[in-house]
Amino acid sequence: MEQSQVIAAFLSGQVPVLVGDITTQDVDAIVNAANSTLLGGGGVDGAIHRQGGPRILEECREIRRTRFPQGLPTGDAVLTTGGRLPARHVIHTVGPICGIGREPDATMLAACYRNSLALAAGHGFHSIAFPAISTGAYGYPAHQAAPVVSEAIESVLTAGTVVREVRLVFYSADDARTFLKHQRFAPSQAANSPRS
Ligand code: APR
Repeated sequence: MEQSQVIAAFLSGQVPVLVGDITTQDVDAIVNAANSTLLGGGGVDGAIHRQGGPRILEECREIRRTRFPQGLPTGDAVLTTGGRLPARHVIHTVGPICGIGREPDATMLAACYRNSLALAAGHGFHSIAFPAISTGAYGYPAHQAAPVVSEAIESVLTAGTVVREVRLVFYSADDARTFLKHQRFAPSQAANSPRS
């Protein structure tokens, strides 16, 4: 994998956990931690538009004009070209904003992952890479996001989907360690044993 370091893998290797940059991932689609305007921002959003080039923003503008004039709702997901990125496509999703002292919205965070995976499967994609949605500017505590994310991904993969690789890309080793400490994937089974 491009300049990224795989530090763990779950569900018989379908869910590798990496430390690296989401924009370098060579997959069918990377997921953008967007905001409802779809017009760019900082963090993951800024990096994707910077590295991916103007075609991504052009397609985001067209999506706003034709489908979401009021903005993309939290938890929803839309698809654009990957532009100049190694990834063929970008799936833009809007994570829940976590207010100080407020209970984070786990349902909405899970919806970001479920809807992005459903969109990828709907287009026949086999590989997707997620950043840690909402855990940056949107303030979702990373240790509380980990069980929500792992349970959402596991339920989609065990239900059956054409998506065979779901990369979880963390920008720092610390973030990855927090995820590994709080994730709730089923204990890994021997690679060749049928799922019981
Ligand atoms: N690759 C992988 N992970 C990254 C990268 C990158 N290039 N850049 C940042 N991250 C990590 C952050 O460290 C954080 O852990 O992605 C996680 C999500 O952080 P944000 O990008 O801030 O996303 P989010 O918390 O969902 O906030 C979204 O921020 O950038 C704006 O327009 C965006 O308004 C929206 C808000």
